Amino acid sequence: MCGIVGFTGSRDQAAPICLDALTKLEYRGYDSAGICVLSGGEFNLIKAQGYVKILAEKTDGGRALPGTTGIGHTRWATHGEPNETNAHPHISSGGLFSIVHNGIIENYAPLREFLISRGYEFTSATDTEVAACMIEFFFRETREEKPNETPEAQVVEAISRAARRMTGSYAFGILYKNCPDRIFAAKRESPLFIGVSPEGQYLTSDIAASLHKTREFITLADHEIALISPEGVKVFSGELDELEKKPETVDWDVEAAEKAGYEHFMIKEIFEQPEAVKKTISGRIKNGRVVLDDLDISEEYLKNISRIYITACGTASYVGVAAKYNIERYCRIPVEVVIASEFRYCEPILDETTLVIAISQSGTTADTIAAVREAKRRGAKVLSIVNVVGSVIATESDWTLLTLAGPEICVASTKAYSTQLAVSYLIALRLAEVRGTISAGEYAAIIADLQRLPEAMKTALALKPELSYLASRYFIANDVYFIGRNIDYAVTLEGSLKLKEISYIHSEAYAAGELKHGPIALIENGTLVVTVAAYAPLAEKTASNAVEVKTRGARILAFTTEKTAAHFKEIADNMIVIPDIHEALLPSLAVVPLQMFAYYVALGRGCEIDKPRNLAKSVTVE
Ligand code: G6P
Repeated sequence: MCGIVGFTGSRDQAAPICLDALTKLEYRGYDSAGICVLSGGEFNLIKAQGYVKILAEKTDGGRALPGTTGIGHTRWATHGEPNETNAHPHISSGGLFSIVHNGIIENYAPLREFLISRGYEFTSATDTEVAACMIEFFFRETREEKPNETPEAQVVEAISRAARRMTGSYAFGILYKNCPDRIFAAKRESPLFIGVSPEGQYLTSDIAASLHKTREFITLADHEIALISPEGVKVFSGELDELEKKPETVDWDVEAAEKAGYEHFMIKEIFEQPEAVKKTISGRIKNGRVVLDDLDISEEYLKNISRIYITACGTASYVGVAAKYNIERYCRIPVEVVIASEFRYCEPILDETTLVIAISQSGTTADTIAAVREAKRRGAKVLSIVNVVGSVIATESDWTLLTLAGPEICVASTKAYSTQLAVSYLIALRLAEVRGTISAGEYAAIIADLQRLPEAMKTALALKPELSYLASRYFIANDVYFIGRNIDYAVTLEGSLKLKEISYIHSEAYAAGELKHGPIALIENGTLVVTVAAYAPLAEKTASNAVEVKTRGARILAFTTEKTAAHFKEIADNMIVIPDIHEALLPSLAVVPLQMFAYYVALGRGCEIDKPRNLAKSVTVE
């Protein structure tokens, strides 16, 4: 989720144009930036940690980098700390290529080893530098094999050869030292566009960054390679056939473009969830097993864990509730979820066999930081699940598993929640395997469903029209109650929080069996009770609880799976049926329609969805 920009023209200076485009991407909150300009056969490169503003100061508004061909990048760290060394562009070890990259090269570690064995050297911890050196390696090979080809053709072929060796996703902007005025670009899975104009061509990973310069854009497709010059753009297939690609006119307004056509960041981020979850899990499942290469924990330690505390705030704490059900069920380790603001005051009983799992999107939430410190002070080990590399929580924990959600802009969390859940499944599976508490069959069944989870999430997202319709029926509610049992209860906590924080409707979640111990007194004619009953073993019992409130006048909006739907056919006023999946993974599917329901209710009420009143994205005070 980084940002790529580039410009090549015959008259205008590239660096100020790149800076301007980078600034347009900065609303996402990146951690470092850099620009490289190719001029007189030399790369002039300036990078800065922090905001684009700092890069602008360092480059004197771009004037320190004269030249009409350049590439730039804003980084959201995934491999390596967010510092200047790891910022893009990266220059290949032989100095021939300068490159900016979005995405993740999943097999970068073996490729790095291979390149080191061929004499390549690395200065950063990034997968991008590996990609730069791969391109250089194949360029040298191509040049030797086909000395009569033009340098341009040699570079295009080298990119294609290198790309075939890389697994994962990429969008590249590439400069080759001996091709003045040329930018090369290639992509797989990560978006990349080329804005064309008489003044020159604009490379961008996000149309929003260049929309003020041109409205004509070529969209690169997966595996395509572009050769960009001041005069125009040539596009080649992965097999090096030249393609006929015409620019298309984009008529979005600039603000809509930042949201890629969505009305709010929240709904954009809801729709980004399948991709974010896929990114988060894909490199961590190999040959049907969870492999956490990024976690240097001994099996000995995992086997000896006697107790787990999960600590977090808000949405992240509700991931903890779902994780508790799975870890206790599959790993047979007692798990306690303690809200981070309570953790240090509840005198937690910790020793070296206690694992504390801290969950935080930002990695900067004050209470969660304090909980991590308290856990360490009391002698426990801390594993954090964090979305921001180099954040305080990531730095201070013994181990960190990153969620690869990319920047989340809407205050109400959606894709961070989903990726945290995904990581919690990986932890549960790894622990269960090491401790021998799960059968091979069950393990394989969960892995298989985890791999199809992103697709199943897309099916859940397709329920959007139904949710939008239901929201139009219920957006005038004053009070909403959410009920569910077991892992469904965990999801209701999040569904209820989403609704109240963005629509300002009073809403509460209860374990369905607890309803008659008080809350049922609040049910009146027409009160909406959202009933989540995806977990098949208890769906019938939840249905009985729904009947109890229905007989007292409640309206029942039921969220079921195909398997559990039958229990609600006679009871529910309205039903949403999500796809079936292994019961351990149900929260990931059940939450999607709940998020959309909250969104459309808030939309119906005219609320400021992305920035709800009184709330902050990251709470850095106690
Ligand atoms: C704030 C945000 C929530 C978030 C919580 C924890 O309350 O509004 O969306 O869940 O903080 O934030 P963290 O960054 O630690 O996950």
